[in-house]
Amino acid sequence: ATERTLSIIKPDATTRNLTGKINAKFEDAGLRIVAQKRIHLTPAQAGQFYIVHKDRPFFGELTEFMASAPVVVQVLEGEGAIAKNREVMGATNPADAAPGTIRKEFAESVGENSVHGSDAPETAAEEIAFFFSGLELVG
Ligand code: CMP
Repeated sequence: ATERTLSIIKPDATTRNLTGKINAKFEDAGLRIVAQKRIHLTPAQAGQFYIVHKDRPFFGELTEFMASAPVVVQVLEGEGAIAKNREVMGATNPADAAPGTIRKEFAESVGENSVHGSDAPETAAEEIAFFFSGLELVG
């Protein structure tokens, strides 16, 4: 089925001018960028987005990093978009990521791993609604 998923190009990637190269990976995989904006999160907003991780030891590091520079938040649409996006991103830890994936090619560490993608339909819907209004989604 056609799905939508929330993608974030993280500070390590935006600061290294990799937005276009990462978007090309998504588009080459058949994903359509149906919404996109560049924003600079506050630590509190990053913490709200990653609230499910609030008890993890890396939560402080994660929210500080996500607020350290602009991010590009986007909605990707396509057949099986959630799984396809995860395939294009590669494993969370770039050391484990397959060749050709975004994280293998661009990520610097498990924390500074260039991209985020929703992991399931329910979280995709929540994460899209966190950043975008219905008016901003242009299929
Ligand atoms: P993401 O898919 O954005 O979801 C949660 C993020 O937490 C994850 O990608 C990683 O960037 C980050 N993360 C996971 N494990 C660690 C870790 N051990 N140290 C720092 N950050 C981590």
